[in-house]
Amino acid sequence: MKREQWGSRAGFILAAVGSAVGLGNIWRFPYMAYENGGGAFFIPYLFAMITAGIPFMILEFSMGQRNRGSAPATLSRINAKFEWLGWFQVGVAAVIGVYYVAVIGWAISYFGMSFDQSWGTDTNAFFFSEYLGLGDNSPTNLGGIQWKIVLAMVIAWAITYAAIVGGVKSGIERASKVMMPVLFVMVLLLIGRMLFLPGALDGVNYMFQPDFSKIWDVKVWAAAYGQIFFTLSIGFAIMLAYSSYLPQKSDITNNAFMTVLLNCGFSILAGIMIFSVLGYMAQEQGKPLTEVVSAGVGLAFVTLPAAINLLPLPYVFGPLLFLALIVAGLSSHISILEAVTSAVIDKMGWSRKKAANIVIGVSFIVSMAFATNGGLLLLDLVDHFANNIGIMSSCLVELVLMTWLVKVSDARKYVNSVSDFAVGIWFDICLRFISPVILAIIVVTKVKTLMTEGYGGYDLTLGWALIGVLFIIGVAVNAMSRKENNA
Ligand code: ALA
Repeated sequence: MKREQWGSRAGFILAAVGSAVGLGNIWRFPYMAYENGGGAFFIPYLFAMITAGIPFMILEFSMGQRNRGSAPATLSRINAKFEWLGWFQVGVAAVIGVYYVAVIGWAISYFGMSFDQSWGTDTNAFFFSEYLGLGDNSPTNLGGIQWKIVLAMVIAWAITYAAIVGGVKSGIERASKVMMPVLFVMVLLLIGRMLFLPGALDGVNYMFQPDFSKIWDVKVWAAAYGQIFFTLSIGFAIMLAYSSYLPQKSDITNNAFMTVLLNCGFSILAGIMIFSVLGYMAQEQGKPLTEVVSAGVGLAFVTLPAAINLLPLPYVFGPLLFLALIVAGLSSHISILEAVTSAVIDKMGWSRKKAANIVIGVSFIVSMAFATNGGLLLLDLVDHFANNIGIMSSCLVELVLMTWLVKVSDARKYVNSVSDFAVGIWFDICLRFISPVILAIIVVTKVKTLMTEGYGGYDLTLGWALIGVLFIIGVAVNAMSRKENNA
């Protein structure tokens, strides 16, 4: 069967940027920057972007484009023993896909409520008690299903399903061509207004104000690297699948630079947008900014609604803010599920429709765990493991395999043979030495912290079990494939 292809280069870039720009940029990035030293976070962030993000993106584009397969197919074409890593990555993507959709679902609900700010004035109590119905739940005691979350998630799943079943060109590319321009225009409009609110600039200054005491902290570096891999959708099967639909002679360096720079530029814009709103809110309430900001998930669903209550024309800017979050989230969710679907198509030889029905059907059912009272806690735990252990260790292993067991200079030669501008030896140095060393330190430190300090007071058995199961599935499928091929 002939492999599907993107209709145009612009179509591919919009899809790749659509994948990269997501919830990670709008609610994760501003909070990460704020938590990890403000302006000082940009040093590790930019360092990670240059030494890991850009070369890794070039590497993944070259792997996918040259081997024309989803993550497991591409890795097994490079070396039959590497297929397991592809399945591990697909597993990580599948896990992320099932909770990511819950956050999009919340955003859909909040979009609806933003027209009349029906979340009320105590947005904290509203989000946790009324909307989620969170009581004395835990990741293993999820409580009941919240039907309004289910309904919102069904909408999100339906859009993802339609794009994936539509195919690479008529589904994903078409969706990205609408979503990305709309998203950029919305965010620019929002910044244009928010930046001129009283107090906005104080908020922005706060985000960029450097706290250099944090720069030697491994945690800050771990956060920067984790953010780069997550936000660029690299190391968890997505960019391999997307680049596998490119014609084999496509320019790689330009595409990779454009994707990375557009994504990271967007993150900074989103940061300015969010912190303008927070600065305004702090001024309105006469409180220091640190007292109005709540962390992580809360930033979008507790602090933003409270800020929207205070905005001029809240029924215009509120819906715009949540719509931006939904559009950014959906285009990434499509790519996360495409990474899984394409792997199933390649492995089973099924039609796209059959593969999508099964992958999305199963994922839909599993995602219901996050539509429960304790869904947020499960999400927090699973997200922590998927990112910090799943993506980080998968990137580390991919780098070691692709630069120590395979000649990285071959990848560079291929990249340079198809690209307008050539990459130099820095590419090899970053991927072979700098990034693996830093990643190894981060992964080891993280495992140690989890073992000694735990995370969020949760029982971590589920997190470790998840990683273990994904690894075992990968190895088992790899062993079966090799047996079939030898028979
Ligand atoms: N890259 C996507 C995001 O940042 C997954 O949300």
